[in-house]
Amino acid sequence: MVKKAVIPAAGFGTRLLPATKSQPKEMIPVVDKPVIQYVVEEAVASGITDILMVIGKGKRSIEEYFDRSFDLEQRLEEKGRTQELEAIKQISQLADIHFVWQKELKGLGDAVYYARHHVGNEPFVVLLGDTIVESPNGPVSKQLINAYEKYGKGVVALQEVEKSVVSRYGVIDGTEVESNVYRANDFIEKPSVESAPSNLAIGGRYLFTADIFKYLKNLPTGVNNEIQLTDAMRLQTKANGFYGLKYKGMRYDVGNKMDYLKTNIILALEREDLKDEFRDWLKEFSKNL
Ligand code: G1P
Repeated sequence: MVKKAVIPAAGFGTRLLPATKSQPKEMIPVVDKPVIQYVVEEAVASGITDILMVIGKGKRSIEEYFDRSFDLEQRLEEKGRTQELEAIKQISQLADIHFVWQKELKGLGDAVYYARHHVGNEPFVVLLGDTIVESPNGPVSKQLINAYEKYGKGVVALQEVEKSVVSRYGVIDGTEVESNVYRANDFIEKPSVESAPSNLAIGGRYLFTADIFKYLKNLPTGVNNEIQLTDAMRLQTKANGFYGLKYKGMRYDVGNKMDYLKTNIILALEREDLKDEFRDWLKEFSKNL
């Protein structure tokens, strides 16, 4: 059973400036919830009960968000605002949430390495805190857990992207072993369009066995002078094998302005309490575009 998840949420939100000047990108709201809450909800829907968030300077509001707020609860109770009360109480009850501080921003690989003591010897899921993924086949983390239970190795979520944008991602060099499942031969972080072995990009969700920490330890810096998680995956692939799962569905990287706008619209249209009114308005509005 996979019970633990790690959510790296330490990086700068440069691409969403100025909104992220004094608040973490993971706390930017989509409809009415911060991005990171969608990420936590995906983990919980996948059976995760214990979450470690790796945070850094300027990220304290994430800690506060997942803590209880007795004053606010009391005020809402006095005012009889039961719906809001339930919504905010539920946030702190989603899972057992822990925090660790990354001391320097040295890259995603370094952030995940901070989880080693908390994770111990168990397999665990990594979900990037600024990325929402949705799939008609259920939570993507759960799909990775299922693949891990079948293959017994690390598994990463893959998404097909336009060849022209591969250099933004980590990319798999893999062999398809069953429909949408790839056995990795290698991974390359941010390859050039010419050198990319495929257009299957690492999509922000990972399932790792605990030996990933062995490969992260003393890992030299890679692309962009950062300690790259993808480089540790390469070493693990060579030593022990690794898989990729191409998932059906969407990936919203809210660090990207265009994606951010689209995500708000798509997710508002999925909300029972908003969708009818919002759809009617959107139809009217788009007539004049
Ligand atoms: C990170 C990973 C990359 C992955 C991407 C997905 O890159 O290093 O392998 O494809 O997330 O969003 P970053 O976006 O931090 O540059």
